[in-house]
Amino acid sequence: MKISVIGLGYLGAVHAAAMAKLGHDVIGLDADATRVSVLSGGQAPFFEPGLPELLDEALSTGRLRFSTDYADVEGATVHFVCVGTPQKCAENAADLRFIDAAFAELLTHLADGDVVVGKSTVPVGTAERLAEEMVATAPGAALVWNPEFLREGLAVQDTLHPDRLVYGLAAGDETSETVLNEVYATPLSEGIPLVVTDYATAQLVKVAANSFLATKISFINAMAELCETTGADVTQLADAIGHDVRIGRKFLNAGLGFGGGCLPKDIRAFMARAGELGADQALAFLREVDSINMRRRVRMVDLARDVCGGSIVGRKVAVLGAAFKPNSDDVRDSPALSVAAQMQLQGAEVVVTDPQAIANAEAKYPDLTYVSSAEEAAADAELVLLLTEWAEYVQLDPRALGKVVAEPRILDGRNVLDPAAWRDAGWTYRALGRP
Ligand code: UDX
Repeated sequence: MKISVIGLGYLGAVHAAAMAKLGHDVIGLDADATRVSVLSGGQAPFFEPGLPELLDEALSTGRLRFSTDYADVEGATVHFVCVGTPQKCAENAADLRFIDAAFAELLTHLADGDVVVGKSTVPVGTAERLAEEMVATAPGAALVWNPEFLREGLAVQDTLHPDRLVYGLAAGDETSETVLNEVYATPLSEGIPLVVTDYATAQLVKVAANSFLATKISFINAMAELCETTGADVTQLADAIGHDVRIGRKFLNAGLGFGGGCLPKDIRAFMARAGELGADQALAFLREVDSINMRRRVRMVDLARDVCGGSIVGRKVAVLGAAFKPNSDDVRDSPALSVAAQMQLQGAEVVVTDPQAIANAEAKYPDLTYVSSAEEAAADAELVLLLTEWAEYVQLDPRALGKVVAEPRILDGRNVLDPAAWRDAGWTYRALGRP
């Protein structure tokens, strides 16, 4: 099939390459000329495991091209809209500028029978509004809402083999369902579950899923707060409750909490939208989910002050990790960077390292000091903070690292180190929610 993908960020770039891999003829479109030329050269504009290989493979077939010119989407019959919907400045609501601009441009290039597929995360009601606009400008085209659930770091796998597919269709639009079934013929043949529904449900599925995940993380972090006051161990508590199949162990890792370009802004936008719909009470709990999450960052700084004997002023602190999670270079709402910046603000001398995210971190927080390895960051440090659980930090040898620091003190912000191994090597080990 001939497919266009509008917006080549973490979602769209992977989606475009994956669609080509599935055998389709794909044109990827983005307003950013640098991004388009990087992708055309077979390079990923951000760190995503497996994406360079996927791009290489897709480009070599000749079925994947990139452009900045909307006229190039003409000829494609299915158009995926993958642009970002970030949080508005100083407001909880989602900023729909990019999606509105993408639709305004796209609609002038559609032909009768084309299917526009919204993948961006939007406030419920957006698809209905955009469908109305389409009736006015491109009456022969149809709109489907098909939310995306990919995780950064696992985006290639999640796009090629999603947990489920959701189609939100206009009433009676069986044609678009058939078209999407053809687009997704390969994953569907693997038996991937398909939910066919209306616009409202499809849009809500995405924010409901992210709200549930955020709630699960904040639940265990709330338990961590209780563990801290009672001397209990939140990791054992999570293991024990996680054995109950109704609860499950996934997304029960207590620590510094969630960040990134999705969970934080999606729960806030969801609350804002519920407020507009007069249903704010239904999501009042998400305010608490957000507060618990933000409190973890404050608690981390407090813990750092604690182990440094009451003050971090002038203390040399090594921060391991800047990305919001491992296997990503994304620093949007990164808990690690937020703690690093807060500690610097409070007078510590902070040195940050990360295997992939230094360039993005530096652009956002130019005042922090960055080095390229954990050993360099830890040199002469009076405190080491592990804030993003990259495998290379989890596997650090406490004895070797103990030789380069000024004081062997470590805070495990992700509960991934073996406390006994670090203590045996002479370290003061502290973590969130553990004795
Ligand atoms: C998330 C959703 O998982 C995905 O389905 C959606 O499409 C986009 O948002 P992502 O932001 O890539 O994906 O990351 P995810 O793996 O969900 O992690 C989110 C945050 O939660 C990270 O900061 C991570 O460190 C944190 N987290 C995750 C925890 O603190 N504890 C956990 O147990 C799991």
